[in-house]
Amino acid sequence: MNRIRHDGPLIIGGGLAGLSAALEAGPRPTLVVTPAPLLQACSSAWAQGGVAAALSAEDQPALHAADTASAGAGLVDPEAVRALTDDGRQTVEWLAALGAPFDRDADGGFAVSLEAAHSKARVARVGGDGAGRAILSALVASVRAAPHIEVWENGRLRALVQDATGRVRGAVIERDGRLVEVLAPAVVLATGGAGGLYARTTTPAALLGEGMALAWLAGAEILDPEFVQFHPTAIDVGVDPMPLATEALRGEGARLIDAHGDFLLGDAPDADLKARDIVARAVHQARAEGRGAYLDARAAVGAHFPDEFPAVFAACMHAGLDPRETPIPVAPGAHYHMGGIAAGLDGRTSLPGLFAVGECAATGVHGANRLASNSLLEAAAFGRRTGRAAGAEAGGEGRVVQAVVAPDLAPEALTALRVAMSDNVGVVRDAAGLTRALALMERLEQEARGALPVIAARLIAGAALERRESRGGHYRSDYPDTDADARHTRLSRAPVVAPAAVLAAE
Ligand code: SIN
Repeated sequence: MNRIRHDGPLIIGGGLAGLSAALEAGPRPTLVVTPAPLLQACSSAWAQGGVAAALSAEDQPALHAADTASAGAGLVDPEAVRALTDDGRQTVEWLAALGAPFDRDADGGFAVSLEAAHSKARVARVGGDGAGRAILSALVASVRAAPHIEVWENGRLRALVQDATGRVRGAVIERDGRLVEVLAPAVVLATGGAGGLYARTTTPAALLGEGMALAWLAGAEILDPEFVQFHPTAIDVGVDPMPLATEALRGEGARLIDAHGDFLLGDAPDADLKARDIVARAVHQARAEGRGAYLDARAAVGAHFPDEFPAVFAACMHAGLDPRETPIPVAPGAHYHMGGIAAGLDGRTSLPGLFAVGECAATGVHGANRLASNSLLEAAAFGRRTGRAAGAEAGGEGRVVQAVVAPDLAPEALTALRVAMSDNVGVVRDAAGLTRALALMERLEQEARGALPVIAARLIAGAALERRESRGGHYRSDYPDTDADARHTRLSRAPVVAPAAVLAAE
């Protein structure tokens, strides 16, 4: 295997978190590695909502923090939430200064809209439902112009490289079918979430929790992996991944109905803007009972649909469905992973040399349930902090351990895994279903020992089985109550300590 030494952060992932980190890591030379060209196959580019921040005269970071804590169901870290919400305005201004074309109000301020479980309108949008792609495009342009950043757009993370103390010293990257070991003083995982582990998901299918699985194998602490958020209105037109019908449609008054035209969550005008897990369960239940679930935007949005929500409109029309005239069939889809690699506000994990940021990280800001549009804020705000910390990291010393590259999962095994995750580790869980899913994972593990998607799925399903209560995005039909004491799941295995025989000369 070829080995190269890089004297600065190695950032794995080209979404909003990874690129924000890269921009702030300068002047240290920074290498960004992504498996696909920038702007492709990353969740940030697909985000329709926007960036949540206290931007209006009626709003304050403390109110934003209170809403975030309340959504997180007892498991948010107050210090992390304060840092996030205090960073809100300056982060949006930083993105705007890089060229993100946020929608503006008549006075030139940021136009903000309302999303579920926010007490104020505070989501800064771009072009109605095009926030993610527009913001990321601005960052991509800045990254391409930054002299300290090099980008490999065809590099897949295959393993982490450690020394005998467990310190992370680099990563094995596959490029054009060849493996290369990149040694670096800091490795930043910005590898995104795990939605692709589910057959019904709104995220790119390639996001299989592999960053979390590798961090786990290396001995890093994993926090609350059972908490997965399901978006209630993934558009159910037989497309994988499922296109998203943004929550902003419900903010504009679109209503959830069943096939008979009855409201799924009652008549109150704001009934459909309850917390995402409640709405997702109502949609799940209506479908399970054979009543179907639809998002009816005919009256509330109607003829304005193409102008106000161009991405959703295009997805519907592509499926032969005109949302101005027909209610949109919807189903819950895996949308965001709240749990992940335990990380601080500057991305530091429990392993020296390893940082994590964005959806693969669990920093304590989302707790058991993420507040809508907080993730783009977290990616950019904590991405910047992480970039600065990783840029200041000095290298480790000593010989590194020969890294082991995990096998890929066969396509049919991955399909079986995804179906089992959606059916048994989804919106509504119980011991029988979780046990069935874990048994399948055990079988798959025997066929492809160490396959990363199976490890990630086991972390999620195993923790879901152990959590005998319902909280936030985790609902157990056999344990529907919420415990009085909120407790975290913390998982870690002993760091790899190398037998002398597998030490590779540095
Ligand atoms: C949406 O637009 O509904 C999604 C926003 C989010 O998940 O943060």
